[in-house]
Amino acid sequence: MNFSVTDNDFFKETSLLTKEDKKGIITHKSPSNIALIKYWGKHGIQLPNNPSLSFTLTNAFTETKLDFQTKKESESKAVISLEFWFEGQKNEKFEQKIRKFLESLLPTQPFLGFVHLQIYSQNSFPHSAGIASSASSMAALALCLCDLEKNLLNTLQNEEEFYQKASFLARLGSGSAARSVYSNIPITTWGKTEDIKDSSDLWANPYILPIHDIFQNYQDTILIVSAEEKSVSSRAGHALMENNPFSQTRYQLAHSNLQKLILALEKGDTETFIEVVENEAFVLHALMMCSSPPFILMETGTLSIIKKIQKYRQETTIPICFTLDAGANVHVLYPKKYENECINFIDNDLKPFCFEGKYLLDKVGS
Ligand code: PMV
Repeated sequence: MNFSVTDNDFFKETSLLTKEDKKGIITHKSPSNIALIKYWGKHGIQLPNNPSLSFTLTNAFTETKLDFQTKKESESKAVISLEFWFEGQKNEKFEQKIRKFLESLLPTQPFLGFVHLQIYSQNSFPHSAGIASSASSMAALALCLCDLEKNLLNTLQNEEEFYQKASFLARLGSGSAARSVYSNIPITTWGKTEDIKDSSDLWANPYILPIHDIFQNYQDTILIVSAEEKSVSSRAGHALMENNPFSQTRYQLAHSNLQKLILALEKGDTETFIEVVENEAFVLHALMMCSSPPFILMETGTLSIIKKIQKYRQETTIPICFTLDAGANVHVLYPKKYENECINFIDNDLKPFCFEGKYLLDKVGS
């Protein structure tokens, strides 16, 4: 399925849109997500080589406003008309990126050529915190585009179809963004697997298997070890998997880790949860270290933090653990009931390794 709308009645008839002047404002807010089972390696048009699973976050999100107005009859429908503002400022770099993305959608979503678009986007988290915003921003944009389609073409009336298409479009912008369109769902999965009914490589789905109470309100404290841009883009990182000698083993491991995690999530088994989640983070970084060329994405602070977390866990038996993105920052995960102890520990023992002592308190979205 490619969710093409080229067969829509609107396009078969004369350009209704150019006769009827339409304008409006659409807004969407999408959360960031943190993958527990990592997507790393892709094929075809942004299709994952293994299934992934993520916690939806609450406090880290992108808000996007899309202002649209139909073009005049004389204006070209083969070009994207776009202006882009980020955090109140016109942003040429992001505008170019979004324009390229919208142009890539034009053949299947021709209505995008019939409107002037002004997009205003802002993040709830500081831009210079080294936190990837592509997931939340692409998800918010994709939701706006689906509402635009609904408004102009009268399609996507069915809610499930609406969200699947939003996730499908978000995926084309950034793979992990596919998992960020469901803002009030704690866990999302993306990628075909026998273990999850109706799972798909094309879009993410809300996780509908049982989730033990302990995981419903898990806390995620994001430690900012480095505020710099990543040394390697995720696009380059995914590409490195093609020649990585361990890639096939990695894809199999993702499947078996997912199976273990599904059971742990149901039973409230924090021990297995920790084993799987930390393994996924280590494997992601190990894959980058043994790629050609190799990349070390951790900083010394990252390692110090990991060792401190593991030691603290051993000493206290509090089920605190970590996961990592493809960068130096550390996501510290722990159950809500240990919030006070964990924040104290973070403040006293981990904060010194953070860039300017910065960390962000977040939690699983609901
Ligand atoms: O969505 P991308 O292409 O930026 O890739 C994201 C990859 C990881 O964040 C490392 C893992 C994931 O599943 O989110």
